[in-house]
Amino acid sequence: MSKGTFYITTPIYYPSDKLHIGHTYCTVSADAMARYMRMRGYDVMFLTGTDEHGQKIEEKAKAAGMEPQAFVDNIVAGKGGILDLWKLMNISNDRFIRTTDDYHVKAIQRIFKKMYDNGDIYKGAYKGLYCTPCESFWTETQLVDGKCPDCGREVKAAEEEAYFFRLSNYTDKILKLYEEHPDFLEPVSRVNEMVNNFLKPGLEDLCVSRTTFTWGVPVEFDPGHVVYVWVDALSNYITALGYENDKYDDYEKYWPVDVHFVGKEIVRFHSIIWPAMLMSLGEPLPKKVFGHGWLLLDGGKMSKSKGNVVDPVVLAERYGVDALRFFLLREFPFGTDGMFSNELLISRINTDLANSLGNLVSRTVAMIEKYFGGTLPADTAAGEFDDELIAAINQLRDTYTAQMDKYAFQSAISEVFKVLSRGNKYIDETAPWVLAKDEANRPRLARVLYNLLETIRVCTILLTPFIPDSCAKIFEQIGAKDELITWDAAAQYGLLPADVTVKKGEAVFPRIDMAKELAALEELNKAKAETKKEEEPKAEPITFDDFLKVEMTVCKVKACENVKKSKKLLKFILDDGTGTDRQILSGIAEFYKAEELVGKTLVACTNLAPRKMMGHDSCGMLLSAEKDGKVNLVMLDDAIPAGAKFC
Ligand code: MSP
Repeated sequence: MSKGTFYITTPIYYPSDKLHIGHTYCTVSADAMARYMRMRGYDVMFLTGTDEHGQKIEEKAKAAGMEPQAFVDNIVAGKGGILDLWKLMNISNDRFIRTTDDYHVKAIQRIFKKMYDNGDIYKGAYKGLYCTPCESFWTETQLVDGKCPDCGREVKAAEEEAYFFRLSNYTDKILKLYEEHPDFLEPVSRVNEMVNNFLKPGLEDLCVSRTTFTWGVPVEFDPGHVVYVWVDALSNYITALGYENDKYDDYEKYWPVDVHFVGKEIVRFHSIIWPAMLMSLGEPLPKKVFGHGWLLLDGGKMSKSKGNVVDPVVLAERYGVDALRFFLLREFPFGTDGMFSNELLISRINTDLANSLGNLVSRTVAMIEKYFGGTLPADTAAGEFDDELIAAINQLRDTYTAQMDKYAFQSAISEVFKVLSRGNKYIDETAPWVLAKDEANRPRLARVLYNLLETIRVCTILLTPFIPDSCAKIFEQIGAKDELITWDAAAQYGLLPADVTVKKGEAVFPRIDMAKELAALEELNKAKAETKKEEEPKAEPITFDDFLKVEMTVCKVKACENVKKSKKLLKFILDDGTGTDRQILSGIAEFYKAEELVGKTLVACTNLAPRKMMGHDSCGMLLSAEKDGKVNLVMLDDAIPAGAKFC
């Protein structure tokens, strides 16, 4: 009989860039939690999916020369796509939603209309700064150094007729939610962040439709507008259960969700915008949002991996899926950031999986084969050191559960490894190889080995949510039948039959030679960099007429200064030979001091359409050359006069 329901979700992933180990982190965590709750007897609904609409996807598809639908289909369901990745990682999701699924699209239209009808959505005009990669509007004061506060990239001015959601009406309601349900948002540091950065200053109405692109869910009653991608995406958590659609019929059963797992940068959407939307719809609120930390590389983001291999497919191929899953949850506390490196991964596999767990299994099984031909005798004798080990086994399920129920995966695993270490120490204490020398000690030797099998059995049950396939292999080796590997069976020492038969198998986690492996990974990285170079598209040839369209003019720098609040931009006042000063902005402040450039002779493209950068007009582009991240301005002999054209 089910103990109740448990609904858990991951964020739905953008099918744009290749997913890296950081993305895998969240899905693997949710998978471990789902498996744990199933093991405990809950009726689990584990949902993941893909977030397929929005300008970013539209632009990527265009760059790839594809229609957006075909583009996302390939990344989601094509060979080596997201579905394949989750299969490889042994993700046991019960449902997978794509925001381009018909039923979801129709439900979004209804959800939008519901919020419009109840007065929470109104039509207005939007002026703001938009970050395309994050699909987020920002106000000037929210920017950090003039850039998107989430991702640090450039934002651009945007203005359009738009629908707005009255988020400003929800400030007090969300504050009240946090007060009345202190465990709604965890870890608690995230609550402080939301309160101080967004709620205390007061929420602003949220722009929830766009008219400048079409790749999204059209607003049914105003089809020039598409629904803001976050309204579309967040709603997946209820549409996937059948909310406002007939595809599924599980809404009553599973909603409200027990926990949304999300990365820290999208906590704001899940703990402010999402509950406000649900309040507007009159629906129950999530029981919990858990904002986990990021996996970082040398302080930087995963997507900029340098030197480390972060492709989960490659890592899983080299070390096995379970080793990778284990590392992610064992190494880092779930709520905070963690620094990823290949060295750390290999070292963790060696110490915990190969040495502590793997060795205990292989030594125990090997000794039973060697001393008893594989089957223990029923006649056994208790002895010194048994009680402490047995007590540790009997207590383990409770200490583990206390951690798992707090989503403290690292601590839960650590509880298991304390008992495995106790088991390894027990071997040293009881010295079975010494016992084996004397026939009279056989009952004692048998009990020692039995106790080791029991240690392995209970620990392995509790490791199953993290490393399911490897645990199945271990159960086979120690002769633990199905009824002895259940949740109930994890609470008790002594369930294996005394005359159990073991079966030696291959090492479940072979030890990795660190130096050799790091060298191999370096080679792999080099080869990858080479292939990337070869794959870089060669520029298409252009006609001479095309070439003549570009006006290149020699300019003298009359003045140059840094643009305030920008780390990148320099503002140039140039003499281009026309008698009127020309202003150009160039993103080269990292490479030159402004004052060094005054008087220099440069080349500018002078018939480029003017554009605004950080509020300044830029009329043209200075020519510079880039290699390996270093940028040099093209400088000419000072004898060449301003206004000279390239011919
Ligand atoms: N599409 C949105 C989510 C919409 S949910 C209604 C999105 N997608 S994402 O693909 O960019 O990110 C998905 C998840 O991966 C986020 O929770 C994000 O925090 C997580 N991660 C991406 N890089 C990560 C690390 N380096 N480390 C840990 N998690 C990271 O956001």
